[in-house]
Amino acid sequence: MSLNIAIDGPAGAGKSTIAKAVAAKLGFIYIDTGAMYRAVGLGAVRRGIDSSDAEGVISILDDLTITLKHTEAGQLIFLNGEDVSAEIRMPEISVAASNVAVIPAVRLKLVELQRELAQKDHVIMDGRDIGTYVLPNAQLKIFLTADPKARAERRLLELLEKGVNTTFDEVYEDMLYRDKNDSGREFAPLKPAEDSVMVDSTSMTLSETIDHITTLARQALEKN
Ligand code: DC
Repeated sequence: MSLNIAIDGPAGAGKSTIAKAVAAKLGFIYIDTGAMYRAVGLGAVRRGIDSSDAEGVISILDDLTITLKHTEAGQLIFLNGEDVSAEIRMPEISVAASNVAVIPAVRLKLVELQRELAQKDHVIMDGRDIGTYVLPNAQLKIFLTADPKARAERRLLELLEKGVNTTFDEVYEDMLYRDKNDSGREFAPLKPAEDSVMVDSTSMTLSETIDHITTLARQALEKN
């Protein structure tokens, strides 16, 4: 049986950095499901389709093939065979990802792929609906949050490090838009699973958060 850990929470809470580190400590595969929604968002933007136009996005969905590759350096994501791992991190693609994620047909396509991956291997999967919808039987479910200003600050630093030209206000506004969109949608919205463990990382350092979640994971996995 494969073991699964779900980490959900809003944008900028540190899910991917933490999930990647915990996966390395436990020898699990890290799966970033946000990257899949970003790849669909990028596919729409490239074809000149408004990411909020559900009919338009659905009309190209069958033409989008999304595949993942796990390397030493982490997960790479391919859209129709092209490595788009860097391009999907652009701020405009964050908003497009959040918009296409509202569309049930998009979610159903990606959730199928996510469940297949989780069945094959021991995985730590991060996203918005992993504990509530994708992997309801995960051995551990974490809901990771942080104060919105702290999240925007962290996201800003990440983007500036990548050479993206942006400001705190721009990042903060995009984040609030996504929080509202991701939590307010009808199908599989962002919310804590009833059996999730809440972790607020606002006043924790990255290594404290990683250690805390690794301990929770070891305790949960010992029971299985
Ligand atoms: O984790 P991220 O910021 O890269 O995700 C990009 C967007 O994708 C996010 O705003 C909402 C959507 N998403 C989702 O709806 N469900 C997931 N499991 C993961 C991401």
